[in-house]
Amino acid sequence: MMHRLNPARHLMPQAVFVVTGAAGGVHAGMTACWVVRVSHRPPLYAVAIHHGSQTRDVVAEGKCFCIHILRADQVDLARRFGSVSGRDVDKFAGLAWRTGAGGAPVLQDAMAFLDCHVVSAGEVGDHTLFVGRLVDEGVLREAPALIFRPADFADIGQSGEEE
Ligand SMILES: Cc1cc2nc3c(=O)[nH]c(=O)nc-3n(C[C@H](O)[C@H](O)[C@H](O)COP(=O)(O)O)c2cc1C
Repeated sequence: MMHRLNPARHLMPQAVFVVTGAAGGVHAGMTACWVVRVSHRPPLYAVAIHHGSQTRDVVAEGKCFCIHILRADQVDLARRFGSVSGRDVDKFAGLAWRTGAGGAPVLQDAMAFLDCHVVSAGEVGDHTLFVGRLVDEGVLREAPALIFRPADFADIGQSGEEE
């Protein structure tokens, strides 16, 4: 029996993060895989956020974002932040968080966080690519990181994913 090959793009190893932002008293957050360091000096991180996301608009206005590295046992947190928009539900309900040095929410239950100030933003296809300079970072509880496995998110998909 022939097996259909996975498209190569689905085979790229990726970690799963939660990216938060804040502006004008509104806090927002979403699950993201498209997160990467792009410079040593200064320390810069990039995140690609699709145009329909509330987090995109909040990060654009507030000019700050915080990347949270999740533990391997935090699939539920990734599903909470990646399955619905913050325009429809309060994703932060019941979670402990504080405002970070850069202005974005820092989730206290994450493994670690990278708090950034936006230094550039550009449109790349249907996403906005935000580049942020690291202003603070911290390890909250070190553990193996959450790596993306399609099966963990098969029922909710990844918003905006191409055919
Ligand atoms: C595992 C996973 C990875 C995701 N990665 C991204 C990503 O890198 N960029 C993006 O724009 N959306 C990504 N999404 C989709 C957003 O998390 C989703 O659209 C979210 O509901 C947006 O919420 P918001 O409207 O509150 O910002 C991902 C979703 C999942 C489940």
